[in-house]
Amino acid sequence: MNWGWKTIIEPFKIKSVEPLGFTTRQERERILREAHYNIFNVKAEHVLIDFLTDSGTSAMSAAQWGAMMNGDESYAGARSYYNFENAIKDLTGYREVIPVHQGRAAERILFEIIGGRGKYSVSNSHFDTTRANVEASGTVAEDIPVKEALDFEKTLPFKGDMDIKALEKFIKRKGAKNICICIMTVTNNSLGGQPVSMKNLKAVSGICRKNNIPLFLDCARFAENAYFIKLREKGYAGMPVKNIAREMFELADGAMMSAKKDAFANMGGFIAMNNSEWAQKARQNLILTEGFRTYGGLAGRDLDAIAVGLKEVLDEKYLQYRLRSTEYLGRGLKKVGVPIVNPPGGHGIYVNAQKFLSHINPLHFPAQSLVCELYLLGGIRAVEIGMLMFGRRDGRGNILPGEVELVRLAVPRRVYTQSHVDYVIEVFARIAKNRKNIKGLKIVEAPKVLTHFTAKLAPL
Ligand code: F0G
Repeated sequence: MNWGWKTIIEPFKIKSVEPLGFTTRQERERILREAHYNIFNVKAEHVLIDFLTDSGTSAMSAAQWGAMMNGDESYAGARSYYNFENAIKDLTGYREVIPVHQGRAAERILFEIIGGRGKYSVSNSHFDTTRANVEASGTVAEDIPVKEALDFEKTLPFKGDMDIKALEKFIKRKGAKNICICIMTVTNNSLGGQPVSMKNLKAVSGICRKNNIPLFLDCARFAENAYFIKLREKGYAGMPVKNIAREMFELADGAMMSAKKDAFANMGGFIAMNNSEWAQKARQNLILTEGFRTYGGLAGRDLDAIAVGLKEVLDEKYLQYRLRSTEYLGRGLKKVGVPIVNPPGGHGIYVNAQKFLSHINPLHFPAQSLVCELYLLGGIRAVEIGMLMFGRRDGRGNILPGEVELVRLAVPRRVYTQSHVDYVIEVFARIAKNRKNIKGLKIVEAPKVLTHFTAKLAPL
């Protein structure tokens, strides 16, 4: 990449725009009160900058919209399906491709086939819907990230890696035949959007193959991970990202993808693999709840949008801009005194709320308090990754502080410009100055399942 300038520019121009949701402070106070201090209850039109998720929120390209108009909506054998299948085969090299409506459907189907009581799934970190689907099948989900992943201060190139020694110990302890799958989440969303190195992937692959444990990638953000490898790992600087991605897929036996991330699609996903017996079972399961094997719960136009998106995401000018713009947000926050998970991740910045709001008792939801303050002051929507989301409970049902208390600012792809990010940094600077005035929250109502989506809170 010979761009040669310090300023990394957005590698696109904008043809179609949407207005932002401007509100007054007074309105936001009312909106937040009516939302019971739960940001999931706020209407999107009342949000100015929406960093809730990078999932399904991408701006599609003109080429994607064009492909959508060509979508073939035939029930069986639609042209759109073959475009989709070819794009995935070309990317991954896997023989079997199964469309699903989003990532969690892939998880459900896979674990209904391979999971069950007495079995284990081991991962660098299961994403929360993955864990939920693993557990729903009766399987135990075990996370073994490298220890450094939980040291938020330390800057290391590949904090998404799996702890190899711990993997070997785990296999010895549980018995290889009881481990139905190993999942490498690339990048590791639950622990800061940190990448996995090829070296680590090779080591995990070697161990899995020796022990006959199938290895799958949760590849929602595979292109971001591949570009991190290009930037940070010896021997990959000169390799096209497409080849790096292919090497990653070749080390595994299959992949699940939520196409709502790196495929720039608003909806969709897939399972891809070489095991035709599993694929057969997956297709039988698919038809029960998702749809016929050539659409899997998606419209033909969605399949076409994904097919185009999977090619576009390999554009290295885009990936350079993508990772640099997330890093720009991270650096800006650090400059104004906001502690983040280091180094900046691929798809977002994770603020260490416990450290930032150390005056708030850990029982009083520091991360959710910061989420509310961001909305009140700046109309910014972020998401709590802390006790509300992971909500361990004591014997009386009270929610306890967990291992992490973070606020994630997930950056939608190709949606916001640098001035939007500068504004977010300015809001954080003001919050940093007055942070001692931020008060904690208490629970008013907290359903036991999916607490963070539905809980009602109130200021102390
Ligand atoms: N795997 C990873 C690594 C994810 O980040 C997600 C979704 C899924 C699987 C599930 O995919 O949403 O299409 O069903 N992550 C979103 C997020 C929700 O905000 O991080 P899905």
